[in-house]
Amino acid sequence: MSYRKTLLGASCSLCVHSLRALLAFSLCCFISGYSERDRAQDLLSKYPLIDGHNDLALRLRIYHNNQLSKINLTNLTRVATDISRLREGHVQTQMFAVYVLCGAQDMDAVRLTLEQIDVIRRICTEYPDFELVTSTQELKDSMTRRKIACLISIEGGHSIDSSLPALRMFYQLGVRSMSLTHSCNTPWAESSTNYYKVFIRPNNSLTTFGKAVVGEMNRLGMIVDLSHTSFETASAVLSHSQAPVIFSHSSSYKICNNSRNVPDWLLHKLKKNRGLIMVNFYSPFISCQNNSTVSHLADHFDHIKEVIGAKSIGIGGDFDGGSSFPVGLEDVSKYPVIIQELLKRKWKEEELADVLRNNFLRVFEEVEKVRNKLSWKKPSEEEIPLKEVANKCRLELKQPILQKMVSNQSPSLKAKGWTSLFLALALLFSLFP
Ligand SMILES: *[C@@H]1O[C@H](CO)[C@@H](O)[C@H](O)[C@H]1NC(C)=O
Ligand SMILES: *[C@@H]1O[C@H](CO)[C@@H](O)[C@H](O)[C@H]1NC(C)=O
Ligand SMILES: *[C@@H]1O[C@H](CO)[C@@H](O)[C@H](O)[C@H]1NC(C)=O
Ligand SMILES: *[C@@H]1O[C@H](CO)[C@@H](O)[C@H](O)[C@H]1NC(C)=O
Ligand SMILES: *[C@@H]1O[C@H](CO)[C@@H](O)[C@H](O)[C@H]1NC(C)=O
Ligand SMILES: *[C@@H]1O[C@H](CO)[C@@H](O)[C@H](O)[C@H]1NC(C)=O
Ligand SMILES: [Zn+2]
Repeated sequence: MSYRKTLLGASCSLCVHSLRALLAFSLCCFISGYSERDRAQDLLSKYPLIDGHNDLALRLRIYHNNQLSKINLTNLTRVATDISRLREGHVQTQMFAVYVLCGAQDMDAVRLTLEQIDVIRRICTEYPDFELVTSTQELKDSMTRRKIACLISIEGGHSIDSSLPALRMFYQLGVRSMSLTHSCNTPWAESSTNYYKVFIRPNNSLTTFGKAVVGEMNRLGMIVDLSHTSFETASAVLSHSQAPVIFSHSSSYKICNNSRNVPDWLLHKLKKNRGLIMVNFYSPFISCQNNSTVSHLADHFDHIKEVIGAKSIGIGGDFDGGSSFPVGLEDVSKYPVIIQELLKRKWKEEELADVLRNNFLRVFEEVEKVRNKLSWKKPSEEEIPLKEVANKCRLELKQPILQKMVSNQSPSLKAKGWTSLFLALALLFSLFP
């Protein structure tokens, strides 16, 4: 205001010139502010978003016990995700997370995983807006059909109960990505958090069986997801994986030092692997507080771009996974807001097209190429050593008695072995009269 007063008080010709300049300046600001919003919309129409992580299925379990007949996904209350808002936010592909509580590990995790896969498959086949996809080709086709593509990803390796056959069957059901841990260690990989005091063992970051899981995922064409793993596990996987990997919903540790985020030294390894970090919007990972702003979130994008470039960045909003998101970015309809902010920060349109869509497509295509290259390989028959998974819910199908018999043992133990074998055979025959 005072600046303007000074101008008006100046000599006439200067005054006219300055006013014209001022007018042009404010008009320019007005137009560019306006056009950033339009540019964000245009960009998103041309390159609609592929988002790496959404927990709607978890909310359907919590609020509706997965009873889809009682709700209409077009408009939902109490959640951040529904069809209307996905459309408004230009979300073209959503990776939906299959998450089951860590408490289910060694219990009914596999059943619960199947039930969550079921509910995602149901929403993605019963609603004509959605389409379940399992390959990059199907994903691209879904865009031309103006559908919202669903990808299924398992969140937490405890879902496979340390079984490669279980992993393969999940692939058959359409699962195309799996994070190796959630908030609990598995017997073969380590979590970024240890809320659950399970499988805390030395050298547990990626055991021999853990390497077999990664190898089998490479062979199948399932994307390895490192969100929720410890830095050591992430590093070991980055050294071991033949295909690019993703962090489906993690942000920058340099900006907010939460253990769910990714430090710069791992970002460099990720770039070498040709993988992707899909930035998480959840406030505690953005500002390290329970509230945050769009500007905080943009700082993560800026920092990661500075360290490894825009070709390694994606978006994994984590909506319905947490309860607090940046002001103005509270649900899936708001994605244009962050794109607008990045345009304001001079991100190039090509960079944003990569972040929105192209980078993920490139990674998924490379994962498929590695699968094709490994097609000569037979399914892995690697088994986890029994002592690493022994628990009361796991039957020992192998005869430890027989194994003991072939090894050198004391005569008394041998005798005990024969007696047990006899009893086992008697039991077996009694089952098939
Ligand atoms: C859900 O609601 C929309 C309108 O909001 C309607 O067009 C659609 O038929 C409904 N779907 C189901 C499955 O009831
Ligand atoms: C429900 O979704 C429809 C279709 O997108 C939209 O037009 C309508 O405004 C929504 N209704 C409510 C109550 O949000
Ligand atoms: C852990 O691994 C290191 C290096 O591979 C090895 O030297 C060490 O003995 C291992 N420790 C245990 C307890 O297995
Ligand atoms: C994160 O940073 C805060 C403040 O800079 C510090 O107090 C805290 O100890 C750090 N936490 C970790 C895990 O480094
Ligand atoms: C955030 O935390 C503060 C205390 O640290 C609390 O007073 C406030 O209600 C919290 N806000 C939200 C949105 O949870
Ligand atoms: C979070 O809320 C507190 C209290 O309302 C405020 O002082 C702080 O600036 C906010 N932080 C962010 C990142 O918005
Ligand atoms: Zn998560």
